[in-house]
Amino acid sequence: MRERLSPILAPYRRQRGALIPVLQKVQEELGYLPEEAVSEIAFFLGLSESEVYGVASFYAQFRFERQGEHTVKVCQGTACYVRGGRRILELVKRELGIEPGETTEDYGFSLERIACFGSCALAPVMVVNKTVYGRMTTAKARKTLALYRREPQVDG
Ligand code: FES
Repeated sequence: MRERLSPILAPYRRQRGALIPVLQKVQEELGYLPEEAVSEIAFFLGLSESEVYGVASFYAQFRFERQGEHTVKVCQGTACYVRGGRRILELVKRELGIEPGETTEDYGFSLERIACFGSCALAPVMVVNKTVYGRMTTAKARKTLALYRREPQVDG
C-alpha cells in the first residue's frame, strides 16, 4: 500500500490542510478508502487515524468499503418517482439481489439511490457509471444491466 500511495502522498507531507484533496486522490486510485490507506494518509499528513476518519465520514463522497466494478444509480427524485422510478429501483434490486448502499458478492455492481440527477426531462433515469439512461422501463433497465454483467465463465 505504501508503495502504491507514495507518489500521491509525497507532495503533501505534513500538510494537514490538504486532507480532502488527498482523500479524493487516494479514492480515485483505489476506488475506496481501505483501513491501510487511511493509516498511510494519517501518517503522511501528521494526523491521527481518527481525525482522518472523522473528516472522511462527514462527506458522502468517501467510501470505506470496496465498490463494485459498476455503480448503478437509480433516481428517486420527484420527477423520476412519479414516472415509475420506484418500479425501476425494485427491478434493479431484484436483478442484482442487493439493496441501495450494497455491493454484489462478486463485486460486479454497487447500487445507489439518488435524489435527483438533474436530468428530469429524461425521467425516469438510471445511471450506470457515468452513462445516463433515460425514459427507463423495467424491460430497458433489465437490458441495460445485462450490458454490464460479466460474461459467465465457460468451463473446459
Ligand atoms: S428527479 Fe430524477 S433526474 Fe431529476
